[in-house]
Amino acid sequence: MKLSVIGVGYLGAVHAASMAELGHEVIGLDVDAARIASLSAGEPPFHEPGFAELLRRGLDSGRLRFTTEHAEIAGAEIHFLGLGTPQRADGFGADLRALHAAVEALAAVLPAREGAPTLVVGKSTVPAGTARELAARIERIPGARLMWNPEFLREGFAVQDTLAPDRLVYGVRDPEAEPAGMEVRMLDAAYARILEREVPRLVMGFETAELVKVSANAFLATKISFINAISELCEATGADVTDVSRALGLDERIGGRFLRAGVGFGGGCLPKDIRAFIASAEDLGVGQALGFLREVDAINQRRRVRAVDLAREMLGSLRGRRITVLGAAFKPDSDDTRDSPALEVATRLMAAGAHITVTDPEALATARRRFEGLTTVEDTAEALRGAELVLLLTEWEEYRHLDPVATARLVDAPRMIDGRNVLSPPRWREAGWEIRSLGRADPAGRPQAPAARAGFASA
Ligand code: UGA
Repeated sequence: MKLSVIGVGYLGAVHAASMAELGHEVIGLDVDAARIASLSAGEPPFHEPGFAELLRRGLDSGRLRFTTEHAEIAGAEIHFLGLGTPQRADGFGADLRALHAAVEALAAVLPAREGAPTLVVGKSTVPAGTARELAARIERIPGARLMWNPEFLREGFAVQDTLAPDRLVYGVRDPEAEPAGMEVRMLDAAYARILEREVPRLVMGFETAELVKVSANAFLATKISFINAISELCEATGADVTDVSRALGLDERIGGRFLRAGVGFGGGCLPKDIRAFIASAEDLGVGQALGFLREVDAINQRRRVRAVDLAREMLGSLRGRRITVLGAAFKPDSDDTRDSPALEVATRLMAAGAHITVTDPEALATARRRFEGLTTVEDTAEALRGAELVLLLTEWEEYRHLDPVATARLVDAPRMIDGRNVLSPPRWREAGWEIRSLGRADPAGRPQAPAARAGFASA
């Protein structure tokens, strides 16, 4: 099939290359000429395992290309909308301007064709009600129909999640009416090779599909903040959150995934999606229903402050101290630093007067773009040299497997904060380290100091 993907950011670029991999003829469109040039040259504008190869295969096959010209996509049978919906500058709500502008620009080139219909498929994360509004615009063009097909891919697993998703959700205007049948059949044809693997495919109304997506992210965020709230209790009582998490996770009804305590969630999705969800509930007059998500957000923010307070507790004063932060990306296997807990902790420590060196296997360039003046060092050993305190804040494989003995030789003082609970404290202590973790008792099994425990001690 002839497909277009409008907006080739993270989601769109991976979707475009994946659709070409499935055998379709795909054009990716973006208003960002630099991004289009880089994708056309086979150079991924972001780090994502497997994506470079997928992109290269698509380009080499001749089935995948990129453009900034709307006229070039007009002939596609299906147009996917992969635009970003970031948090608005003036509040919690989602900024839908890029999405609306893209739909207007698309509508301007869509041909009217009654016989062979054109399908527009929204994949962006949006507040409930958005699809119906956009459908009204799209469906003014004879033969054009809109569907909402939220995307659940995770960064770091984007290719696998796109080609082998755990479910497909199709949002249509009226799931019981016959016209929906035609749209569903068209999208089924595009996803035929995915559906062959018996992936559950659920057809529902626009608003339901939109809500599935935001509820999924809200649930994941809640699960993480739940265990991080338990971390605060662990710190107050001398308990160990990693044991709590393991024991809870063995209850199949709870499950152990997304129950890892630490500096919490960041990235371009979870934080902004829960805020947009809160804003949308308030607009709908049911703000109370999602009041708990404010607490989820607050718990998440407190963990970042707590990491800074723990550093202060270990060093006495932060002013002038040399601290190395392991990790800049919001999670491993990504170079994305949007709302990264690691970077927020690093900049808070800087603001308190510490000399910070940040290292990360992939995300230093994006980190420097986000925070000018950040001291970054590529090589891990070099970054560690001379540190008086190390904070592990993004659990890259490399950092999980650091050797405590060899690492102790590099630093000035063997002090470590494990902000992701991935190191073995006994092993590190044995090698002479003073190691503290979020949500775990200090070595004597004593509760952590109450002033810092509250998480509000930092300026
Ligand atoms: C998230 C969702 O997991 C995807 O399903 C969704 O499609 C995507 O948002 C989106 O809406 O686009 P992603 O942002 O790639 O995916 O990251 P996650 O893997 O969800 O991790 C989010 C954050 O939570 C990271 O900072 C991670 O370190 C943190 N996390 C995750 C924890 O602190 N504890 C955990 O147990 C798991």
